[in-house]
Amino acid sequence: MKFFADTADINAIKELNDLGMVDGVTTNPSIIKKSGRDIIEVTKEICDIVDGPVSAEVTAIDAETMIAEGRKLAKIADNIAVKVPLTWDGLKACKTLSDEGTMVNVTLCFSANQALLAAKAGATFISPFIGRLDDINLDGMELIEDIRTIYDNYLFDTQILAASIRNVNHMKDAALVGADVATAPPSVIQAMAKHVLTDNGLDAFLADIKAADIKIL
Ligand code: E4P
Repeated sequence: MKFFADTADINAIKELNDLGMVDGVTTNPSIIKKSGRDIIEVTKEICDIVDGPVSAEVTAIDAETMIAEGRKLAKIADNIAVKVPLTWDGLKACKTLSDEGTMVNVTLCFSANQALLAAKAGATFISPFIGRLDDINLDGMELIEDIRTIYDNYLFDTQILAASIRNVNHMKDAALVGADVATAPPSVIQAMAKHVLTDNGLDAFLADIKAADIKIL
């Protein structure tokens, strides 16, 4: 499973990228607002750091303006994926931009039928939002499983990008059900390294190292 960093925090992206823990980046208007930076400027900086796809979201809701915005975003770098919402107009924009050779990430997906439409419109990525479904007591991971089955049934090559990931269990479960990509905040990716038994075991080893004065260097 590929890891995308769901952030515009340049330092966090650099740290993950240096460790080989990031295969791409996703942003959205809320993430750009949080960064306090100009969307074009910060997106370009991210594209210069990361080799993989960097999603930048359109601001319009009509197809024509989404397409114009998408074309402008696509000029930032070769690794831009234009993010469009899963609306009828978003699907029109997806089809046009995909036909032009631009990667498209169709976002705000909450149903298998929406994912089916995105694949038929040529989306490079479909972004089902796990956490937001869980927030309203629906099963976000079941949606990923359903989309996996449908895409495999018909050999769609649209990649399932599990989004709205809130915790390490979402990462594990997305990998188990076969998401192609998971996008998560850097804090969640780092938290995957944590285990209480690792911490306890290390404490015990450190105590023995001190007691026996074990030295390597
Ligand atoms: C990614 O593409 C999405 O914009 C993001 O994962 C949404 O996450 P949230 O539901 O935590 O805002």
